[in-house]
Amino acid sequence: MEREYSEKVMDHFRNPRNVGEIKDASGIGKVGNPVCGDIMNLYIKVENDVIVNAKFKTMGCGAAIATSSMVTELVKGKTVKEAQSISNRAVAEALGGLPKIKLHCSVLAEEGLKLAIKDYLKKSGKPLDDVKK
Ligand code: FES
Repeated sequence: MEREYSEKVMDHFRNPRNVGEIKDASGIGKVGNPVCGDIMNLYIKVENDVIVNAKFKTMGCGAAIATSSMVTELVKGKTVKEAQSISNRAVAEALGGLPKIKLHCSVLAEEGLKLAIKDYLKKSGKPLDDVKK
């Protein structure tokens, strides 16, 4: 059988990091993937402009779980501004790549993160202007 997923994808799929929710989250991003209907909720906790914690709940395929897990790892310790520039491709690359037909799954991670940041900025009364679409 052709090997489709990298070791890292399998690892993050089998042992996803940061599963769950943050009760007192600073921002929450809820997204659905129009391609397949899978959904993701991403929670971030921000202190002094730094993302100190991130968790997720994803009902989706293996690639969606793995990218959700990776994005929560990638954002921890980053400033809100730095986190805004994390793209779905960066998440996929951090996982050692995804099969082409599963690349759309990583869009959930990017959009979930962007929405969580937007939610945080809104709740904390910060300007939304520089949030990338
Ligand atoms: Fe739905 Fe992967 S098939 S996110």
